[in-house]
Amino acid sequence: AADVDVDLKSLVRTIPDYPKPGIMFRDITTLIGDAAGLRSAVERLVEPYRDANIQAVAGIEARGFILGGAVAEKLNCGFIPIRKKGKLPYTAIGQDYELEYGIDVIEIHQDAIAAGERVLLIDDLIATGGTAEAAAKLLRKLDANLVGAAFVIDLPDLGGCARLASLGVKCHTLIGFE
Ligand code: PRP
Ligand code: ADE
Repeated sequence: AADVDVDLKSLVRTIPDYPKPGIMFRDITTLIGDAAGLRSAVERLVEPYRDANIQAVAGIEARGFILGGAVAEKLNCGFIPIRKKGKLPYTAIGQDYELEYGIDVIEIHQDAIAAGERVLLIDDLIATGGTAEAAAKLLRKLDANLVGAAFVIDLPDLGGCARLASLGVKCHTLIGFE
């Protein structure tokens, strides 16, 4: 379909040395700001899960909210926010993690997922996989059935998808940058 033919990679802007020296920042604002780019990215994220009986989409703050909300709507299920520490209003459980340029804590509401619920995890990008691993741990603490994790961008050299695979989480990514 026309949606699938959009060159997503050419819509990602690269900013060298942001947020610190040596990081090649892959900026999706240019992709999501493009109507065909956004639609194509959402279509391609959803595609493997159309018949997977996904019951909830969990998205990781902040960039995972944009794509995750759209994916949830397409899969006809609800959206569960996984947020940075201190942002969720109700009782939450937390998990710390290390990322390419720092350390942080993410949280999920304790009642966000029912035991056994089939959940798809969405974020814009997987680098080391530290954020996604922390999110997977939160979902599993709630006894979710984590069906898969999907990302627009993979940085394969940083090993995130291999790390998720070692946890038994299947990864789907649309484009890669060395
Ligand atoms: C980015 C990205 C992922 C994470 C990937 O988020 O959106 O969530 O880093 O890195 P990892 O695989 O090494 O964990 P960031 O923490 O920069 O937060 P933001 O979305 O709020 O900008
Ligand atoms: N998150 C972790 N590493 C990143 C990168 N290189 N570009 C954009 N977001 C990131």
